[in-house]
Amino acid sequence: MKALVLAGGSGTRLRPVTHTLAKQLVPVANQPVLFYGLRAIAATGITEVGIVVGDTASQVQRAVGDGSRFGLHVTYLRQRKPLGLAHAVLIARDYLGADDFVMYLGDNFVADGITDLMDRFRSDRPAAQLMVAKVADPSAFGVAELGDDGRVVRVEEKPRRPRSDLALVGVYAFTPLVHEAVAGLAPSGRGELEITDAIQRLITDGHRVGHTVISGFWRDTGTVTDLLEVNRVILESVEPSIAGTVTADCELTGRVAVQAGAAVRRSRIVGPVVVGPGSVIEDCDIGPYTSIAEDCWLADSEIENSIVLRGASLRGVRRVSASLIGREAEVTGAPGVDCQLVLGDHSAVCVSP
Ligand code: DAU
Repeated sequence: MKALVLAGGSGTRLRPVTHTLAKQLVPVANQPVLFYGLRAIAATGITEVGIVVGDTASQVQRAVGDGSRFGLHVTYLRQRKPLGLAHAVLIARDYLGADDFVMYLGDNFVADGITDLMDRFRSDRPAAQLMVAKVADPSAFGVAELGDDGRVVRVEEKPRRPRSDLALVGVYAFTPLVHEAVAGLAPSGRGELEITDAIQRLITDGHRVGHTVISGFWRDTGTVTDLLEVNRVILESVEPSIAGTVTADCELTGRVAVQAGAAVRRSRIVGPVVVGPGSVIEDCDIGPYTSIAEDCWLADSEIENSIVLRGASLRGVRRVSASLIGREAEVTGAPGVDCQLVLGDHSAVCVSP
């Protein structure tokens, strides 16, 4: 059994941050989204992982390396253009060989992992086992329709009129039968080889497609709102720890992790919050649900429910919330102004009343 992790694509909905950073590498609680998926795969006992990479290949390779830190052996598979999820399977054909595999979309976060799906797939061994979840607006996803016997009878990609409220989560288990289905595909209306079309072909050809409904938290981290939500959920279980320096004039409550090499002075932090290595926090009010990456500088500022990426600085900026601040971005400004910011790397913003 292998895993195929998709870490290509373009991440348009997360721009401007994804102009310079692979969307699967945007950190939540100071770890790239992709790492949570890799850990979930490792927890199922799979060790051989092919990661599909596109234009951001070198970033992904630098971040994940050979995979040994996750207990995995990673092979990189270059996709020249993001021509669809089924196209990723097509280019991975030789790598996957005759093995069953789990396909994991690298921008998906599934809080309870993928072990239930894999256990079911291994015991029933249908042609495909789909992970699905009830959602309020299924038209934003692939949608599965079930027959009376609980089998999947139809799947559709982002239908205008969904036939059920079951969205496809970005995790699918396949037997090698999927390769025949993929080989016969034509590009969809949006010009992609759709994995939903390949699954539909399996169904039409009479193969069994099972499903596992999850009720726990999951998100496709395609938008800033989703990313901030994942950040909040992960921070809820952050282990409080002070490995950096916190001076006696600070007030820390709740789950706060100040990582090694970070320094906090004359500040109030209400967890859950994580402060990355090398970051300096002075005269600040850091609210709940905030992740501050490494080497940031926050002075005389107030921030909550936000993600601050590596090397960013905030000086004299009050009441920042629901924000994503890019790497090395500089925000300065007048106190007393509420701001919600989504800033790309190296931005410079001065907020004035
Ligand atoms: O998140 C669940 C949804 O993911 C499913 O409900 C949909 O059925 C499925 O098509 C997919 O929809 P998205 O529109 O969210 O897919 P997206 O284009 O964002 O791609 C998902 C991941 O795969 C993302 O990490 C980028 C990567 N990717 C995407 C394409 C199109 C590749 O590596 N190569 C590609 O060619």
